[in-house]
Parts: sequence; structure tokens; C-alpha cells
Amino acid sequence: MNLIDQDRIWLEETLKKFIGKMEWVSEKSRDKIPATTVNGVHDDRSAGADTWTADNGLSWWTNGFWGGILWQLYHETGRERYSEIAGISEKKLDQCFTDYYGLHHDVGFMWLPTAVADYKLTGNEESKKRALHAAGLLAGRFNPAGKFIRAWNDGADKDTRGWAIIDSLLNIPLLYWASEETKDPRYRQIAMLHADMAMNIFIRPDGSSNHIVEFDPENGDVVKTYGGQGYENGSSWTRGQSWALYGFVISYRHTRKKDYLDTAKRVANYFAVNIPEDGLIPVDFRQPKEPCWMDDTAAAIAACGFIELSKEVEEWDREIYFNAAMKLLKALTDNHCDFTENSDGMLTHCSGAYHMAEHHVNLVYADYFLLEALLKLKGNDYFMW
Ligand code: GLY
Repeated sequence: MNLIDQDRIWLEETLKKFIGKMEWVSEKSRDKIPATTVNGVHDDRSAGADTWTADNGLSWWTNGFWGGILWQLYHETGRERYSEIAGISEKKLDQCFTDYYGLHHDVGFMWLPTAVADYKLTGNEESKKRALHAAGLLAGRFNPAGKFIRAWNDGADKDTRGWAIIDSLLNIPLLYWASEETKDPRYRQIAMLHADMAMNIFIRPDGSSNHIVEFDPENGDVVKTYGGQGYENGSSWTRGQSWALYGFVISYRHTRKKDYLDTAKRVANYFAVNIPEDGLIPVDFRQPKEPCWMDDTAAAIAACGFIELSKEVEEWDREIYFNAAMKLLKALTDNHCDFTENSDGMLTHCSGAYHMAEHHVNLVYADYFLLEALLKLKGNDYFMW
């Protein structure tokens, strides 16, 4: 879709501010792997040997997004300093393979925006090996009885052998890539079995998605669902809706299986009618009116999904999805974007989960998906997934 003049100016100005800020943030945080900010300063999930295997340490699921921002900037500007800084975090993540126990289904989130991007943009053979290794680990989490990829590892008091979560739809593109790269269909077959399962079991008749489904890991029967990071069981965690929307478009893009496109449309229609008047997205579409917790990550991810969906649908459906993306992005940049030097982060109203103590914080993946969406509008994103 072509932007009208006014929107083109908004896009140019916003990208200029984003990239201008990343000029100094990338230098300041060059040796870190940030997930959030503390008093406006990026934290570092790679700091300290004691955090290597911890869930919030080097194996933390968002540790690929810093690299992702840098590779998008490298692709946009051609400046080597961005690829050089991206390479620092990619090499640090190697320790996760050795430690092994910290790893989970989020290896896609970790190595698609780092190693796969590096390999595709520079031809780095070491990166290709890293990414194939990660793909093997992800494929190894597949449970043939329930036809799902196991999400998390057991906690002290939690048996998660049968848990699958909607977020995995953004991890399985690592499997599509591995099949495209090796010509071995096994990875893609696993990805499609998982996507089929998600389509049939996670997506509700109204187009909304569950966050967590528990299967019996021995016979594959559905045991129960959980509200997960949303308000409660049966509610509608917005980031989960975004993973579903963007995830099914991505699966369609890799496979051209029409069911995935139809499912993406159903989820997108549900999301679109629930966008509030002001375009700012709550943590859960079914949360109480107060407190008014918001989540910019959901908005930024959904915007990417809406834009990609608008490219795949028939002419007459394009505008509705494209306009939904514009509404979300303008609401974010008008209200929730900090382009100043007061903080290393950009989007200010992110929430990890509804019931977490902290809300309205910076989260690195919100900034990543905002940049990806803006570059999509410009027609110059690197397709990460
Ligand atoms: N993939 C975990 C989350 O979205 O919080």
C-alpha cells in the first residue's frame, strides 16, 4: 500500500528519530544484551557467570532482539558498525549451547535475529552452523503424540512436559529456514504439524487465541488450558493474539497453505475490532477496566502482522489491515515513544504479563518490532522470520 503524503512525512521523521537514537544507544550498550532498562539504562542479560543458565540470564528468550535491531539497522544503513556490534551478542550466545539446560522453545527468537540474519546478510558460515544447531534443538522438542513443540522446561513445582504456547509460532520459522537451507523437509514438516495443531486447538471460534494448552505428553490428549500471561483462563492476552496473527501469516508465507492465511485473517479480524478508540493496546482484551495496564509489545507485533497480511490478501481486503497497522503505530509513536537521551529504551508502556508486579516498562522486543514495522512501511525491512 502506498502512504499518503502526510503519513510519508510521519514515517520519515519517526525513522530518523529512531535511527538517530540508536546511533548512540548502540555504542553505549555495545557489550550488553539488553532486555529492559533500569532507571533509563539498559540492563545486561549477559553479565555475570552466575546468570549463564538462569531463565533470566544468557538463555533469556529475548536475547536475540538486540541483535535483531542491529541487523535491521545494518540492512537499512549499510553501516558495518551495526553488524560488528550485532556479532558481539551472537558470539556470547554460544555459551547457551554448551550450558544446554537453560534452553527452551524460544531458540527461534534467539537465533533467527542473530545467527540466521548474520548468515543471510553476510554469508557467515559460523552463523549458519549456530542456526542449524538451534533448529535441531527446536525440532527435538516436538512431541509426536500431541503434535506440538514443547514450550518450557519444568520449574521446581511445575510439570510442563505437555505444555505448548501460542508464542511458538514465531519460533518455528527457524525450522522453515532450516528446511529451505538444507533441502531436508523434516524441519518444515515439524513446523507445519505444530502450526496445524495451533490452528485447530489454540484458536477459538471467535478468532481469539489461548495462551497455553496442556496436553497429556504420553497420549496427546488435551488436558486443559491456562490464561498464562493474560488476565485469566479464557481471556485474551494481547501479545498472544499478536503472536497468532503474525505467526500464521509467516507460516503462510513459508508454506502457502491457505488454511494459515484464513486463520491469520480470523485472528486479525478479532484483533482489529478490539483495538480501542485511542489505538493503545491493553495487556488483555478481556481485562477489567481498572487498572488500565497496557502493552506496547502487543501493538508493535500486531502492526507487523497486519502489514504482512495486507500484502497477502485480495485487493479489497488490503486497506482494512493496513489501516489497522497505521492506527497502532501512530498511537505508539504519538504517545509512548521516548526518543530522548533520558532512556536507552524507546517504547515506554510494555508489560511482560498481566499479573507481574511491574508494568509500563521498556522491553527490547517492543523496540525491535516497532523498527521492523516502520521499515516494512518504508518497504525496506529485512524479513527476519
Ligand atoms: N514469548 C514470551 C512472551 O511473549 O512473553
